[in-house]
Amino acid sequence: STGYDAHLRVWRGDAAGGGLTDYTVEVNEGEVVLDVVHRLQATQAPDLAVRWNCKAGKCGSCSAEINGRPRLMCMTRMSVFARDETLTITPMRTFPVVRDLVTDVEFNYTKAREIPSFAAPEGLGPGEYRMRQEDVARSQEFRKCIECFLCQDVCHVVRDHEENKEAFAGPRFLMRMAELDMHPLDEAERRGLDRARAVAEEHGLGLCNVTKCCTEVCPESIRITDNALIPMKERAADRRHDPLVWLGSRIRRR
Ligand code: SF4
Ligand code: F3S
Ligand code: FES
Repeated sequence: STGYDAHLRVWRGDAAGGGLTDYTVEVNEGEVVLDVVHRLQATQAPDLAVRWNCKAGKCGSCSAEINGRPRLMCMTRMSVFARDETLTITPMRTFPVVRDLVTDVEFNYTKAREIPSFAAPEGLGPGEYRMRQEDVARSQEFRKCIECFLCQDVCHVVRDHEENKEAFAGPRFLMRMAELDMHPLDEAERRGLDRARAVAEEHGLGLCNVTKCCTEVCPESIRITDNALIPMKERAADRRHDPLVWLGSRIRRR
């Protein structure tokens, strides 16, 4: 058989506290970390809490940290680790623990709600929108997001700085604002909402110092930093340097 026994160290506990527990679990050819966690649950730890749905890298539920790196458990092959390596599996650090590997990701939904929604063109009903591919190409990449929140978890601005959470939307939502800003039919600006300015002044874009950790962990390989965050920083800077645009937006705001 090609199977072997892996050494797992899994964080067990809840909001009140917890710690790492050691387990030895069988691994079979071709398995991913989530398979092994499920076997652990089935054979030794029936009360182990773990969140998952699709097992295909599409629902974004199985986010955790493996040896300190944020990853989807269902998309991480056991074969990327040495057989004698201890796998330390911990819940996402940036969000409060509910139990074991399950965290409370409400922070992200709060941030999502703070984003002014798509301003649909007046006079057009659903199904009547017409856009050219070349106009949507720039932001299309951002729609691949599965909301796993691994980028939100890894970003140092909030990872060890609870105090920054209020002021910082995080890479996923700064990217969402870039997506809306690049949307060819979004009429926010015409109605007095300057998205580039808002993302800088109200959602904490300035706290991002382009470390690109978000981009590195994204399971959808979205180029969050280069294609969303940096262009938004440039747009916000242009606003500041163009006094007429600045004045215009100030007057419209009142
Ligand atoms: Fe996950 Fe990537 Fe979306 Fe961030 S941008 S939530 S890492 S899919
Ligand atoms: Fe954070 Fe990504 Fe910026 S990790 S600092 S949002 S480039
Ligand atoms: Fe759906 Fe892993 S279980 S992304």
